[in-house]
Order: sequence, then structure tokens, then C-alpha cells
Amino acid sequence: MSECSVRVLMTKRLMALALGSAALVGCGQPSMTDSPGNNEAWQATYPAEYQSWAETENTSARTDLLAHRPALVVLWAGSPYAKEFHSPRGHQFAVADVAQTLRTADGQGSAACWSCKSPDVPGLMEKYGENGFAAHTFAELGREVGNAVGCADCHEPGESTLRLSRPYALNAMNKVKQPFEAQNASWQASQTCGQCHVTYYFQPEEDNKVNIPWIFGSTADEIERYYDTRRFYDWVHPISGAPMVKARHPEYEHWSRSGHAKLDVGCVDCHMAGQSAEGMHNHKVSGAMAQYEQACQGCHQDEAELAQTLAQHKAAIDEARTEVEGLLIQAHYEAQAAWAAEANWHEMNSALMDIRHAQWRWDFATSSHGIHAHNPEEGMALLTVALQQVKMARAKLAQVLAERGVDSVDYPDVSSKETAQAAVDIDLPALQQQKQRFIEQQMANGWPEAAMRGYQE
Ligand code: HEC
Ligand code: HEC
Ligand code: HEC
Ligand code: HEC
Repeated sequence: MSECSVRVLMTKRLMALALGSAALVGCGQPSMTDSPGNNEAWQATYPAEYQSWAETENTSARTDLLAHRPALVVLWAGSPYAKEFHSPRGHQFAVADVAQTLRTADGQGSAACWSCKSPDVPGLMEKYGENGFAAHTFAELGREVGNAVGCADCHEPGESTLRLSRPYALNAMNKVKQPFEAQNASWQASQTCGQCHVTYYFQPEEDNKVNIPWIFGSTADEIERYYDTRRFYDWVHPISGAPMVKARHPEYEHWSRSGHAKLDVGCVDCHMAGQSAEGMHNHKVSGAMAQYEQACQGCHQDEAELAQTLAQHKAAIDEARTEVEGLLIQAHYEAQAAWAAEANWHEMNSALMDIRHAQWRWDFATSSHGIHAHNPEEGMALLTVALQQVKMARAKLAQVLAERGVDSVDYPDVSSKETAQAAVDIDLPALQQQKQRFIEQQMANGWPEAAMRGYQE
């Protein structure tokens, strides 16, 4: 019996074992590594799921959010986010988009940036240890990441059973007393998404490994308490000198407190909606409104009305965030002016902490893609507090400035991404050149095709 016919007879269990060896190479499939992270290795057993998963390659549109909202450049000045920031697109692009972004221009940041991009990651964490994985540079592990978000991220190797493949996500669900094994099917499915669609930070004292900061809970207040008690900051803002914390796409957090979550309507119901007659889930993870008929119609009667409600939520959040962004920029520059007038820490501390806290809440609301759909009430509540906090910061700074006779402050021109980046000394052409060198010298040297997806002519 040839290797190929043996494989046809394999049960799913055996398939799991076989995925751990190179035994399947040579059956008319593309050659593969010996890891369950290899998405192609699943195709023969689950052709339908594989096919619809592969279609995430068709969702390739994205928006340059720094061009869309140049204020972001100033608020994130000094952090990599001010260099490049796009809206998300299909899972098939996850590896290429992190490899090609200016945020990883020199490749010298932590390999922890790979954590939520590839089903090869669990295997690499086994190989190097969680700390050892993150202790590598981003460039060092580039050759070993060959698959974009796929089967082994959400499934036990070779099986349809769901799993949390990231140790830090398993821990995090325990921290908020939602242990994976105790959840119903709907919440387990949402937790597979919540491994990546969640806020996190790199733990400096642990080789930069990913940590989900939910010791006290997963609300903005509780996470802030954790960061504050640890005196943690992601970066120091170069304009104001405030010690900043960055929120990253907390979709799981917002959803978990939503009306839909209470009804067990989870991520999968809206973004992987519809099952075939054979019971196959649509694995083309993509926009929810595009799946209205399968995803929403069962409970919501009128598509136009629903779209209008969503648009209203979005407009309200956009209006609130725009106001907060404008005031935050002013606060950063007023702090700069106060330092220039030789204010001391004693006078500045409280205002800087208000800036930190206001921007944290603003970021927790707005870096969550789809907050207007997932939990608009929480989004508005966060922005309302952020507004109060940034106003407090400005009132305190106004006093410091008045005491020192400063009566005017220069604010930056944020009418475009270009003017905003110039204001905070970002040299885009130099960064682009650095990235180009990185692509030619490192990536062209044996990095897998996944790192180029969507970037080749
Ligand atoms: C291993 C990490 C990971 C897991 C697990 C994951 N995602 Fe993603 N997801 C990403 C990344 C990274 C992107 C952005 C990819 C890009 O822009 O290149 C993304 C993008 C998306 C998008 C934008 C797609 C589009 O077409 O605009 C949606 C929606 C999404 N994910 C939903 C989900 C849902 C629902 C789940 C669970 C069923 C899930 N994700 C599981 C990492 C993950
Ligand atoms: C982002 C998470 C995620 C990824 C990636 C993913 N799946 Fe799934 N898969 C799910 C969820 C959620 C279900 C539904 C489980 C349930 O409700 O019981 C599922 C169900 C399945 C099932 C059971 C039958 C069905 O369709 O409902 C199979 C088989 C399966 N997936 C195979 C695959 C294969 C093969 C890949 C890679 C090509 C893959 N999955 C990628 C999350 C994922
Ligand atoms: C009740 C339905 C619903 C649920 C549940 C839901 N979403 Fe969404 N989500 C939406 C809608 C509607 C949008 C707005 C854009 C669109 O149409 O997809 C959105 C937007 C997004 C986006 C941004 C997509 C983009 O291209 O900007 C991501 C990422 C996302 N959701 C992930 C998740 C994750 C992860 C979960 C679970 C933790 C989840 N969603 C739960 C309906 C839902
Ligand atoms: C299983 C039923 C169910 C499904 C499926 C469902 N919803 Fe809902 N949705 C509800 C219920 C019930 C409420 C009211 C919840 C509450 O009171 O918090 C609601 C509330 C909403 C709201 C807030 C309405 C308002 O007036 O503020 C929006 C927006 C929404 N859903 C969008 C969606 C979208 C988009 C989808 C599909 C992608 C979807 N829902 C799928 C049951 C569902």
C-alpha cells in the first residue's frame, strides 16, 4: 500500500499523529514541514473547511488609518504605531502584513510580534519555550513562520476539536474566571478568536513575552489598575513626557460584556456565519454585515434599519473620539510648553497621569475594531470618562503655564498624515528605505511565501 492510500484510510485521530511527521510528503500535495501549523496538511482531511478558510485571501481591502485620522500620529508619537497603522483584512494576510509593515522596519523588535499571526507559533513556543520564543528578534524567526492564521490556531492538531493554542490566552481566560474547558460551545468558539483579538502587552521582565493583563479583570479600569500598580508603561511620549500604555484591539473584552454575548451570540455567529447542509461552518472569517442573511436575519428583521442603527452608533463614537483626540493633542503640547518653561515633576505629575489615563481609555475604545457593533455603550462610556480626564489634565497644565507666564502654545498641523508625521519627526522615506533593505537582505533570503502575500506583482 502506498503512503497515499494509507492516508485515505486514516481516522482523524491518526491524522493528528501523522501531522506530527513528514510522512505525508509526496502524495501530490505541496511539500510540507513536519508541523501541524502547516495549513495545507489539513486540506486532504477537511477539504471543505480548507476551501472556505482559503477564501480569506479575497478580503484584501484595507484602510490607512493614519491617513484617515492623522491625529493618531501625534497621539502615538514615539511608538511604532505612528509609523504605519492599517485596518485589519483577511487572515491570509496576517504574516505578510506584519512582515511588511514599517512597524517592524528593522526586524530588531521582539519575535513576540509573531504571536498572533500564525499557527506555526504554538510549535515554536514548544521548541524554544514561551520566553525563548519572545527572546528572539522578529527577523530571527521569520524563516520559521510560513503559515497565516489557520487551523492549528483554533483546533487540536489534525482534529475538529477546538483549543486555545496560546498558553497566555489559556491563562488569561482563567484569570477572568472564564476557563476554556468550562465554557459552552459558543463561548469556546469566541475564545478561540479571543486569543488574538484581545489587548496585550510585552512583559519586559519576561523576555518580552506576551501577557494579557487581566489579573484584576478585563475592563479598562481593571487593566489600568494593573498597569498603574506595576508602574508599567509601553513608551514615554516624546512631546509631553507622559508614561503611556497602549491598548490593542480589545474585541473579546468588549464583546464579552455585550447583550449579544449574554445571548450566546458570539464572534463565530457573526463573522463565520452559516453552516452548509453537511454541517460545515463557513471558515471565511470576514465582515459581519456582508453575512447579514446568515448572521443577523434570524433575530433582526430589517437589514436597512440595522445598518442605520450601526451607522448611528458609529457616528456617535466618531464624534466623541474626535473631540477627545483634539484635546489630547493640545494636552501633550501644553505639557511640552510647561516643561520648556521649566516646570518640575511635582507640578506635572498629576496632569501627566491624567493624560495617560485619558489616552488609555480613548485607545481602549477606539483601537477595538467594530466597537460600534460590539459594544457601543461601553465605547461611549469610555470616551465620556476620557473627555473628563483630558479636560482635568488641561486645567492643571493651564495653571502651570499661567504661573510661568506662558500665554501661547504651538499646536501641530494634523491636517494630513504627512504634516502630522513631520511634526513628530517621523522620516517616512528613511523608514521605507530601511524596510526595503530588510526585504532585500533578509526576507528575500528564504522567508516563506506567506510573508510576501499581497505584495508581489
Ligand atoms: C492567531 C490569531 C488570530 C485568531 C485566532 C483570530 N484572528 Fe482574526 N485576525 C488576526 C489578525 C492578525 C488579523 C489582521 C490580518 C491582516 O490585516 O493582515 C485578523 C483579522 C480579522 C478580521 C478582519 C477581516 C476582514 O476581512 O476585514 C476579522 C473580522 C477577524 N479577524 C475575526 C476573527 C474571528 C471571528 C476569529 C475567531 C473565529 C478570529 N478572527 C481569530 C488574528 C487572529
Ligand atoms: C479562527 C479559528 C478557526 C480557524 C483558523 C479554523 N477553524 Fe475550524 N472551526 C472553528 C470553529 C469556531 C468551529 C465551529 C466549532 C463548533 O461550533 O463546534 C470550527 C469547526 C471546524 C470543523 C468541524 C466541522 C465544521 O465545519 O463545523 C472542522 C472539521 C474544522 N473546523 C476544520 C478546520 C480546518 C481544516 C481549518 C484550517 C484550514 C480550520 N478549521 C480553521 C474555528 C476555526
Ligand atoms: C452581533 C454580531 C457580532 C459579534 C457577536 C461580533 N462581531 Fe465583530 N463586527 C460585527 C460588525 C457588524 C462589525 C462592523 C463591520 C462589519 O460589518 O463586519 C464588526 C467588526 C469587527 C472587526 C473589524 C473588522 C474590520 O475589517 O474593521 C473585527 C476584527 C471583529 N469584528 C472581530 C470580532 C471578534 C473577535 C468577536 C468576538 C470576540 C466579534 N467580532 C463579535 C459584528 C459582530
Ligand atoms: C440570536 C439572536 C441575534 C443575532 C443572531 C444577532 N442579534 Fe443583534 N441583537 C439581538 C438582541 C436580542 C439585541 C438586543 C440586545 C440587548 O438588549 O442588549 C440585539 C441588539 C443589536 C444591536 C443594538 C441595537 C440597538 O438598537 O442599539 C445591534 C446594532 C445588533 N444587534 C447588530 C447585530 C448584527 C449586525 C448581527 C449580525 C451580524 C446581529 N445583531 C445578530 C439578537 C441577535
